[in-house]
Amino acid sequence: MKILFIEQNTEIRQLYSIFIQSHFENVEVFESSSLAHSIEVIETMENIDLIIFDNLFSDGYGIQLINYLTKNKYQMPLLFFSEDDPKDCDGLENILKLNPKNRYLAKPTKPDEFRKYISDYILQSEALRPQEVKYYSFATVNLFRFNKSKCDIFIKLSEKKYIKVINKGENYSKQFIEKLIGKGVRSVYIFEDDYLQYNDDFLDFPFLEHDREALGNQELEDQVVTKQKSLHRIVQEVGFTEEAIKLAEDNVSRVESIVGSGQVLSSLLNQAREREDYVYEHSYIVAVIASKMAKDLEGDAVKARRKLISAALLHDITLEKPEHAMIDSLADDKISKFSKKEIEIIKNHPEKTAKLVEFSGGFTKDIVDIILHHHEDPKQTGFPKQIHPNLFSELDCIFIVAHKYVSLLYRYHFDPEKEDKIKIELKANFRSGFFRDCLQVLLKELERNKQAAA
Ligand SMILES: [Fe+2]
Ligand SMILES: [Fe+2]
Repeated sequence: MKILFIEQNTEIRQLYSIFIQSHFENVEVFESSSLAHSIEVIETMENIDLIIFDNLFSDGYGIQLINYLTKNKYQMPLLFFSEDDPKDCDGLENILKLNPKNRYLAKPTKPDEFRKYISDYILQSEALRPQEVKYYSFATVNLFRFNKSKCDIFIKLSEKKYIKVINKGENYSKQFIEKLIGKGVRSVYIFEDDYLQYNDDFLDFPFLEHDREALGNQELEDQVVTKQKSLHRIVQEVGFTEEAIKLAEDNVSRVESIVGSGQVLSSLLNQAREREDYVYEHSYIVAVIASKMAKDLEGDAVKARRKLISAALLHDITLEKPEHAMIDSLADDKISKFSKKEIEIIKNHPEKTAKLVEFSGGFTKDIVDIILHHHEDPKQTGFPKQIHPNLFSELDCIFIVAHKYVSLLYRYHFDPEKEDKIKIELKANFRSGFFRDCLQVLLKELERNKQAAA
């Protein structure tokens, strides 16, 4: 059991501390005279069971301690040990109501009375153990898509110690996230209460937002530059190497220049990219992964790769709302939240996009077909046409497996602990024929990268 004893008067503090420690086994008393040191003790000791304090510290008042504890959701019982009645102390008037276990003991008190209080407290200690603050974790890379949080964000230092890295309501930069990931911070945390408060099963991260207006011109420019970097980082986090990304990147620019020659497509692609949303981001990740898979699966890998990347960058380009692009299957629960009109938009986008790309004249029939088929699957449960498995080309298969994998990564928020779940789902989806070959290549690649990273 850990007790923090805050008292300015050294004699009183030492006297009572020695008294507690000599009468009770397994009790550690941490002494403090200032608020600053007390906070340090609370934060480094983890799980202080009881705080004994008077109203006056060397650097502040009781009210500041209460504010700190409330703000940081500490719930350990408090013993206000003072000559002053809490009713007469600024900010401490309601201290006994804050927690039913809080007590007031008038100072000076007879040692017996003090001992009785502590021993009662210790006897009930299990019941009194402060309720632990629970955290909700998510993969750090998810922060890249946003620049502002509606709640405090923490990183974990040890089993029970978390420190705040992003303040509620404050903007953060992609560079900052890059720095965190560079230091090996793969997961970040928010209070579970915050998570529950903002929980909305429609939005994946309702507590995060993208606040364009808060950015100045310079920052907007930086965002464009760092956008590509953060995409790299996301792909790397998934387990793809720098080399794989570089390979895709060269082709991405080639494809972009072809797209750029057709007005409609280029403005659509730019729109998606400038919005910094899911459409461009997941398209880019599909491009990298499909292109990497093609290297092991296709005889003419260079040609195949270029086609897959074209299809990846364009496949969802007619969807205006990122949440529409997030629907991978019509069986997805989230679809019930959309209006009939929106569901039609989702159902029709493969055909609409395929037609647009075909009419642009810059792309071959197999690219158009990949786009048309990107939501189909070998079990004939996809959309729009539930085509027969024999009708898929090899490129279709590679694309569908890569696209499914990327959808699952997003569904599970890039959480490394969900890797097995994702693999099981992929295996259930792609059991036979060339689909199975594609999946094996993907799984092998992931395994290889995992070993290289270890
Ligand atoms: Fe799509
Ligand atoms: Fe997509």
